[in-house]
Amino acid sequence: MGVIVKGKPVADALLAKVQADAEALRQNGAPLCLAVILVGDDPASKIYVGKKHETCERVGIQSRMYHLAESVSQQELLELIEKLNKDAQVTGILVQLPLPAHIHARQVLRSIDTHKDVDAFSMLLDMSGDDLVPCTAGGILELIHSTGVEIAGKNCVVVGRSNIVGKPMAMLLLHENGTVTICHSGTVDLGDQTRQADILIVAVGKKKLITADMVKDGAFVVDIGMNRDASGKLCGDVDFEAIKEKASYITPVPGGVGPMTIAMLMYNTVEAAKRQFAVRRDI
Ligand code: GUN
Repeated sequence: MGVIVKGKPVADALLAKVQADAEALRQNGAPLCLAVILVGDDPASKIYVGKKHETCERVGIQSRMYHLAESVSQQELLELIEKLNKDAQVTGILVQLPLPAHIHARQVLRSIDTHKDVDAFSMLLDMSGDDLVPCTAGGILELIHSTGVEIAGKNCVVVGRSNIVGKPMAMLLLHENGTVTICHSGTVDLGDQTRQADILIVAVGKKKLITADMVKDGAFVVDIGMNRDASGKLCGDVDFEAIKEKASYITPVPGGVGPMTIAMLMYNTVEAAKRQFAVRRDI
């Protein structure tokens, strides 16, 4: 049976470092504050935002929540972001996605001061190695690194091309010298592609999309799906029970990638604050 790669221990180790860095910033009198903007009442977004707020408290990052009505205009949202961009006490800004259809998400994300963009959605094309990286993709990279598995030279297949996960994931794997394929709804034979994967990352949102016959023996399987099965239990995009017998490593849902996303957000928030105030890395 493959190793079950759990997120919580890796996330806790990262959060302990973040907490120490946050305390060092505080001792130096440097501002450290994450502003989170939630538009509307999407139930999943409310849960995610609540968790971000709780985790900020846990690690000693100040947080401000801005809950705007679903009907807010794009102009009002842009004005709030502009105000936060100028506020020296605010060192990180995050707009929870999805946004209502009448708001142009890309324009909104682009309006965030890049130094305060802790989601790092504006940095996709650069990835110089020193940039902050998007939280879920960065968290997955940390999880893979925690196992000691090398990415360089491996066939990496990413299923899903979202701006939040699939695209940044592919860029990060490429940056680590993986040979990367991105599959999506237009891929003709998905199984043909996934069977080539030494590292298979699945971020689609369809339960049991990936069955055991679609996975190579000994593959590293990362499941980012968040679905409900017939009995209402949380489940991912891969058939975990069958694939864990075949994979060398596999992340469970829940308890795999989930804890890493928020841990990376906390890391990015402290890192952004450090950079804005040029506090030395080793304080
Ligand atoms: N919605 C789902 N995941 C994310 C995320 O990582 N950041 C933001 N801002 N919204 C999301």
